[in-house]
Amino acid sequence: MLTSAMESIDAATAFDFAALRASEFARLDTAGIAYLDYAASALYGVSQARAHGERLAHGIFGNPHSEHLASRNSAAAQAAARAATLAFFDADPDIYEVCFTANATAAIKLVAESYPFSSRRGLILSADNHNSVNGMREFAGRAQAPISTLPLDAQLRLDHAPAHLRACVNRQGGGLLAFPQQSNFSGVQHDLSLVEEAQALGCDVLVDAAAAGPSGTLNLREHSADFVACSFYKLFGLPTGVGALIAKRSALDRLRRPWFSGGTVEFVSVAHGRHSLKPGHEGFEDGTPNFLDLAAVESGFAFLARIPRLCLRAHIQSLVQHFLALAATLRHRNGAPLVRLYGPRDVKHRGGIVAFNVLREDGGVLPYEHVERMAREHGVAIRGGCFCNPGAAEKAFGFDAAGVEHCFDKLEGDFSIEALRHCTGGAATVGALRLSVGAPTAYEDIERAAALIAACRE
Ligand SMILES: Cc1ncc(COP(=O)(O)O)c(C=O)c1O
Repeated sequence: MLTSAMESIDAATAFDFAALRASEFARLDTAGIAYLDYAASALYGVSQARAHGERLAHGIFGNPHSEHLASRNSAAAQAAARAATLAFFDADPDIYEVCFTANATAAIKLVAESYPFSSRRGLILSADNHNSVNGMREFAGRAQAPISTLPLDAQLRLDHAPAHLRACVNRQGGGLLAFPQQSNFSGVQHDLSLVEEAQALGCDVLVDAAAAGPSGTLNLREHSADFVACSFYKLFGLPTGVGALIAKRSALDRLRRPWFSGGTVEFVSVAHGRHSLKPGHEGFEDGTPNFLDLAAVESGFAFLARIPRLCLRAHIQSLVQHFLALAATLRHRNGAPLVRLYGPRDVKHRGGIVAFNVLREDGGVLPYEHVERMAREHGVAIRGGCFCNPGAAEKAFGFDAAGVEHCFDKLEGDFSIEALRHCTGGAATVGALRLSVGAPTAYEDIERAAALIAACRE
């Protein structure tokens, strides 16, 4: 835990990030790209890609459901990937299981489709959630389970979360609470003590760790969430197509799988219509796992282990601080600000993500697509839209739910951005820009983003 600005600077400079960029990510400079989209995907280091290529070139990997050497090679790679995943989250292997999935979304869906929702066991979502978590409400709704939302404050942090949580539980009983470790919209790192608060009220807790990235601080010995979802490409770029549900064994036991499939069953009888699921993670891993990509997980974690997490955190904070400071100086000729920031204005309890809009001289919002187009032309890779996080976006943009309702009715399901803009007479801000940083990011990348924003001046 960083205790002072001075310690933070020391940690940021204690690791040579410029050397890392030169040796592992030189392709960014060759291509002239300021890559600032780490919340969408981390980038892999060149040595990591080579290590995986070498492993595939020389190893023999077969379907892990067989028993021969090639199969055992895959099983061993998966066991190593499971151990590295537990170690990353500091999860006790006696308590936690790792179920491999296609991505974080699939990990969340495993819980959503199997959770015993009922009229007394509902779903509590933070307003700040990715749609891959918001979608859980469809399963809860089908079970006639109550669904509540914990609101956000003006800084896009959870607003008095313990009090709102208690009120929800008093109203609807316990159930499942789901919130992100770090917002993929604002970069806010939510207070993880909410895990203990919710468990003390009889709730299960799912923490979505997808957007927290490699500098994330979720320690499962400290905050023993029942379920955690992640995607590996967001941690170290390679492999894609593999994620994990890290779950307490006791929590997995409370889930009821809606089906069985190849790979998940101990026994199936067609004549008797009976089946029994395998215990632990095997009962949750449908079909043949992505065993060649899983073989890249260990080298991904090994790559990350070269960068002390404290240094990475400080590097990320320092880059965000640099952007916030530059953004504050950007003004129109009439002195009006050029940038509207969403979320916290400082780097406390936030990760490497900043959401903003570029403003016109009259204070109106420049359509985000316009800035995105200019960014592409400038070789600056940032993201535009609401980043699949409509709850945080609605709060950030001051969404007028009642005022816009007639538009939803009028549009009859055609919710295209243009149609919504037209219907609200241009009043609705429908998207922002998101800049996100990672280990390879250099201060020059941030300055290129600031120069791009300055170039949007009319
Ligand atoms: C907070 C959060 N949750 C879930 C997801 C879904 O991740 P994936 O698309 O890898 O399943 C994302 C992706 O951006 C995310 O940022």
